[in-house]
Amino acid sequence: MAYKVMGVCAGRKNGNGEIAVKAALKVLQEKGAEVEMINLFDYDILPCSGCEGCTMQMGNIAMGKQKEYHGCVLKDKDDVDQLVTELHTCNGVIFAVPTYDLAPSSVYLRFAQRFLAYELSFLKEIGVVKDDPHTVAGLISVGGSMHDWQPLALEVLQASMFTMSITPVDRLMIQRVGRPGNVLTTPEQVERAKQMGEHIWEAMNTPVEERSWLGDPNDGVCPNCHSSLVYPGDAHWDGVEFPYECAVCGCGGTLGTNPETGKLMLEIDPENGHIRDRFIDASRAEHLNEIVQTRIGFMQRQGEIKPLYDEYKSMEFPTVEVSR
Ligand SMILES: Cc1cc2nc3c(=O)[nH]c(=O)nc-3n(C[C@H](O)[C@H](O)[C@H](O)COP(=O)(O)O)c2cc1C
Repeated sequence: MAYKVMGVCAGRKNGNGEIAVKAALKVLQEKGAEVEMINLFDYDILPCSGCEGCTMQMGNIAMGKQKEYHGCVLKDKDDVDQLVTELHTCNGVIFAVPTYDLAPSSVYLRFAQRFLAYELSFLKEIGVVKDDPHTVAGLISVGGSMHDWQPLALEVLQASMFTMSITPVDRLMIQRVGRPGNVLTTPEQVERAKQMGEHIWEAMNTPVEERSWLGDPNDGVCPNCHSSLVYPGDAHWDGVEFPYECAVCGCGGTLGTNPETGKLMLEIDPENGHIRDRFIDASRAEHLNEIVQTRIGFMQRQGEIKPLYDEYKSMEFPTVEVSR
């Protein structure tokens, strides 16, 4: 079977991220995959305006009030629609995103946050997309520092995969590379990027239901998604509560010790620890239910708050004038 893999870079031209992606793509190309690479700086990517036009349409179609899905209101105004259409033809993706202020750079986030209008499970349900390509991903964060200055980088990248309907199978934090080309002074990091190419190839050649994590099995604190972000849980909208939960995938449980590393790990509750697992379609659907319930709750009280809302709307403060 022919496979197609896209490299998505959000860093500088000929920067460290591009080099890592090229190293991985070369491996895949030599194995016979069709490869392509984009740098998000080359495209016009408008920020999500937050209009909720997409989810309002989804809700209306689900309730039978609307037949056709018209997509994102920005669809014909920039390049995102064409990029997403191409991405949906790919079996694998390698993202390389620079870490700015501990987290993925804004260029990447701007792109990623446009995917709500393209939620694959929904588009499949209404027949806009016929087949789920079951795309797998390798995630690379690229930073000038080590983990202590990139603590949100891979986790936020991972969190953006749910809306993209892409399954990460490997992740790599490239560390202590600053100027473009710096990564080439650390051949072990370039080798690790090449290994990511191998992992993507392996995942694509594995039946969907048998695919699993191919990165370091002891990476992170959560054994489900390998994120390092686990926090003391609070009650959810419907009362569900875990002692601790993973900030990325939403699995819940108690804190224990990884027997292999002796480090802290989340011990996922065998009974209900996966009920909020964002990798599972049903629990993402439950989140859609939460959104709908919040909306219904608001509609019921909209009249009651109208005078106060109007008061806030008419309240004005001096703003900042800029000259252009
Ligand atoms: C605005 C800005 C903020 C940055 N913040 C961080 C940071 O919080 N942590 C870190 O490790 N590196 C940080 N860096 C360094 C970049 O991540 C690093 O230069 C990386 O190699 C860029 O990737 P590229 O070569 O693919 O463009 C920052 C760089 C810039 C320009």
